[in-house]
Amino acid sequence: MRKGSLTGVTALKKKLFIKTYGCQMNVYDSDRMADVLAPLGYEPTDQPDGADMVILNTCHIREKASEKVYSELGRIRHLQNEKAADGGRMVVAVAGCVAQAEGAEIMMRAPHVDMVFGPQTYHQLPEMVTRAVRGAGGVVNTDFPVESKFDLLPEESAKPQGPAAFLSVQEGCDKFCTFCVVPYTRGSEYSRPVGQVLNEARRLVSHGVREITLLGQNVNAFHGEAADGSVWGLGRLIRELAEIDGLARIRYTTSHPRDMDDDLIDAHGTVPQLMPFLHLPVQSGSDRILAAMNRKHTGDDYRRLIDRLRARQPDLALSSDFITGFPGETDQDFADTLRLINDIGFAQAYSFKYSARPGTPAASLEGRQVDEKVKDERLQAVQQLLNAQQVAFNQTMIGRTLSVLFDRVGKLDGQLLGRSAYMQSVYVQAPARLMGQMVEVHITGAYANSLSGHVVTAETVTQPARPAVEAHA
Ligand code: 5AD
Ligand code: SF4
Repeated sequence: MRKGSLTGVTALKKKLFIKTYGCQMNVYDSDRMADVLAPLGYEPTDQPDGADMVILNTCHIREKASEKVYSELGRIRHLQNEKAADGGRMVVAVAGCVAQAEGAEIMMRAPHVDMVFGPQTYHQLPEMVTRAVRGAGGVVNTDFPVESKFDLLPEESAKPQGPAAFLSVQEGCDKFCTFCVVPYTRGSEYSRPVGQVLNEARRLVSHGVREITLLGQNVNAFHGEAADGSVWGLGRLIRELAEIDGLARIRYTTSHPRDMDDDLIDAHGTVPQLMPFLHLPVQSGSDRILAAMNRKHTGDDYRRLIDRLRARQPDLALSSDFITGFPGETDQDFADTLRLINDIGFAQAYSFKYSARPGTPAASLEGRQVDEKVKDERLQAVQQLLNAQQVAFNQTMIGRTLSVLFDRVGKLDGQLLGRSAYMQSVYVQAPARLMGQMVEVHITGAYANSLSGHVVTAETVTQPARPAVEAHA
């Protein structure tokens, strides 16, 4: 049966396809968009064909990320035409950071788009949809409204999909790193009130969530107001979350080195639910480049910070972000980055070629842009080193017993997939009833991107069982 030919009661239901690009904040936002649209009869589907609404929730961080959106819009146009030929209507929307940055320009390049709206406005989706469906022209909404979307999202939102959930606690950024579009697309820093965060966390746990990742573009800059008017930092918030019965794991991402305060560092040593894994972008190991990036820290500041963190939690595994070929980066600067990577030892990391983003200060550093070939070579070198560190780190897991939270079904029959405390994917042959459970797994295999092993005990544990403390690469 063709999807457009449903009749009767089911015809009232509309299909919503959301494609999410970029960071975990976007994943969270996409889920909230689905929540806002549910009362209007939209039900999520995993195929764009025949959908009544398609939303591309976009990322603008690097040029490649935004170009992908335009090629996807081309494909969507054909599906929209097919639907129209069947007598239906497919509403097409571009959301997220490309929408915020490019606004009405998107409709000039892709006139079949009905709605363009930024990350701060999706609580207004019902009105926007009504206007787009009834009106002749498209809807463009790139405001930074005075009211917070978090105050206006449906109370019963955040129905979790599995045992691990994201919880957005902070948004926006005031750091203005010279390469980055985030302060322009997501606006200035905003922290949700403590009470709102705690309520959402309790609701998630009551729906069976065992692991919460606190999200923010600059999450460790969190400064949420509590009911008594006091302002809480992230460390205090984490301590309070750790009191929730049944919440076994807490993580947070992504952080800036300047905002790692004493209290948060201390939480890594004192809160057992706070996982021993930290994503802490450093971007470069060269003080000259770090200054040009406006990072406001040096390579040694970062090293000292890691020393302090490891003093509190010797078992801490680290992840980071690196950019190669920032304008003016010399061979010496790049060598300093490799040296920093060797000094720290990362369990995993992301690395990117510098991509000039229109409107950011670094994009207009005339004559200082690094040759594309050099950027490529440096990216390869940095990735080779980081991959070697990742493999070495994974290999230290062989013979250990790790707590794994099973949250996905593997590709092979009878296989479950979960995450270790250190964010590694762990593949195990295990009965389906263990899905959503924290299970002790004896690790027998270590690969570049994953581990494998067998179940030691199928007992549900309410507190994370900590592996024996040991130093790693
Ligand atoms: N070019 C390359 N990488 C970038 N990032 C942010 N902006 C750029 C850019 N213009 C990287 C940073 C950041 C991660 C999310 O994306 O490393 O931490
Ligand atoms: Fe971008 Fe820097 Fe803010 Fe991170 S801290 S979001 S890299 S401006």
